[in-house]
Amino acid sequence: MERLFQIAIDGPAAAGKSTVAKIVAGKLGYVYIDTGAMYRSLTYKALKTGTDLNNGAGLLELLNRTEINLLTGENGQRVLVDGDDVTERIRYPEVSAQVSLVSSFQEVRTEMVRRQRRLTESCNVVMDGRDIGTHVLPDAQVKIFLKASVDERAVRRYKEEKLKGMNPSIEALKSAIALRDKMDTERAVSPLVKAEGAIEVDTTSLSIEEVVSEILRIVKERRSL
Ligand code: CDP
Ligand code: CDP
Repeated sequence: MERLFQIAIDGPAAAGKSTVAKIVAGKLGYVYIDTGAMYRSLTYKALKTGTDLNNGAGLLELLNRTEINLLTGENGQRVLVDGDDVTERIRYPEVSAQVSLVSSFQEVRTEMVRRQRRLTESCNVVMDGRDIGTHVLPDAQVKIFLKASVDERAVRRYKEEKLKGMNPSIEALKSAIALRDKMDTERAVSPLVKAEGAIEVDTTSLSIEEVVSEILRIVKERRSL
C-alpha cells in the first residue's frame, strides 16, 4: 500500500504557516492540522481554571482531562475544547502571551505529539507548528520552513487585529513576537529549528498566492519522484 503523504510546515509566529497550510490542504484534499491551536487550547483552559502555568505535571494532568477537537466545516477551521467553540478565544493576547511557557514542558509536549501523530494515521495531512519536521513527523515527504522578518510579521498581526476591531500597537506586537520567537527557539525540548532537509521559504515580500504556489510546486516535484 502506498504511504500516506505528509507535509510539515514549521516557522516562527506570523510567518504565514496556517494561512498557506490551510489553502495547500484544501487544494490537495488533505487534512490540515494546526498544532499551535492545540497548545493554545491547553493554555486557554489553564488560564480559565487558574492552573499553575509553571508546573508541567499539573498542566499534563489538566491536558489528560481535556478534549481538543480541530474541525473543518462550512465556517472554516473551528477549535473545540470540551465541546465549547474557542476558535476566537485561543487567539486572545492573554493566551498568546502564555502559550510558549505552557508548551515548554516535556510532559505537555509528549502528550500533544501523541495526539498529533494519531491524527495522521489514516489520512494525508498538512501539519503546521514548530517541531513538525524535526520531531512530530520526521519522515514527512515534504518539509517547509517558512520565515519572514519580525517587522513584516508584526505588521501582519497588526492588520489582523485592526480588522477584528482591536486597537493594536505595532511596537507591542513586535516585542511579543520577538519574545515568543526567543522562547520557542531556546527551549530545551523540541525547540523551533529548521529540520534537516526542510526547504526554507522567506515570505517577507511574497504574497500568500506566491507562497502557496511555491509549496505546491515542491509537493508536485516530490510526488513524482
Ligand atoms: O500562529 P502563531 O504563529 O502565532 O502561533 P501558533 O502556531 O498558534 O503557536 C502558538 C505557540 O504554541 C508557539 O509560539 C509555540 O510556543 C507553541 N507551539 C509549539 O511549541 N509547538 C508546535 N508544534 C506548535 C506551537
Ligand atoms: O500561522 P502563522 O502564525 O505562521 O501565520 P498566520 O496566522 O497564517 O498569519 C499570517 C498573516 O499574514 C495572515 O494575516 C496572512 O493573511 C498574512 N500573510 C501571509 O500569511 N503570507 C504572506 N505571504 C503574506 C501575508
